[in-house]
Amino acid sequence: MKYTHITPSFGVELAAGTQLAALTDREVTALKQLAAEHGIVVVRDQKMDKQGQAKFGHRLGSLMNSPVNRPDTPEELIVIRAGPKSKAVAGQGWHSDVSSEAVPPGLSMLRMEVVPPSGGDTLFADMYQAFETLSPFMQTFLKQLHARHEPRGHYLYLSGAKKLEELPSSVHPVVRTHPLTGRNALYVNAGFVENIVELSQRESQALLAMLYDHVAYSVSIQCRVQWAPNTVVFWDNRIVQHHAAFDYHPAVRLGFRVTVVGEAPYLADE
Ligand code: SIN
Repeated sequence: MKYTHITPSFGVELAAGTQLAALTDREVTALKQLAAEHGIVVVRDQKMDKQGQAKFGHRLGSLMNSPVNRPDTPEELIVIRAGPKSKAVAGQGWHSDVSSEAVPPGLSMLRMEVVPPSGGDTLFADMYQAFETLSPFMQTFLKQLHARHEPRGHYLYLSGAKKLEELPSSVHPVVRTHPLTGRNALYVNAGFVENIVELSQRESQALLAMLYDHVAYSVSIQCRVQWAPNTVVFWDNRIVQHHAAFDYHPAVRLGFRVTVVGEAPYLADE
């Protein structure tokens, strides 16, 4: 597949003219590998509607459904919408999608239909580099730890659950290995992580605050995508955190996300 780099190691954009709906099975496999290596894959000018996106989503793997959608939106899609009445938006703040699940998402695929006149970018941060730029001592320490991920508010309505207690919380390794690359990535995010299970509450808070600052302030491990109508972005939640900038109120922004089930996070033996 032909692509250009957004930064040397993080983020790629597929060549103009690529239509996802026309990809062969081999190209879909290559797309997943590209996301595993570079974190995010941007594709512009897609001729794709909601049904086409749901159909393409099934080629990526098993999907997390959104059973609360209106009848005109397939349950494979999560609606990402903001407008004049929005006080906050889904995806504000650095996070990895629904990491509270026992088997959390691998790829997410967001397709934008309506974008604000300006603003509304999504910021992305590379968790391979977040891990690799920590000191060797810190890396060794983190590899021994696990974090409890709790379900959070805005996913409640997407799941159809009435109370947060109905949704799972999960314990995952703080450092996880990507099955397609064998590389290790930092896997704690401010959106879902409650605490580090091996540490006291004070130790856990201090360590998490340091790691979240590391992700948020390390601009050289980040990139941002400016959306246009019909842009599609894939990100690999195993190794990427993202943050939707809500800087465009009261304009409308409307997109649809397909979320692909990954695997239970693990840290491979070295
Ligand atoms: C999300 O977290 O899936 C939303 C991202 C976005 O709206 O840019």
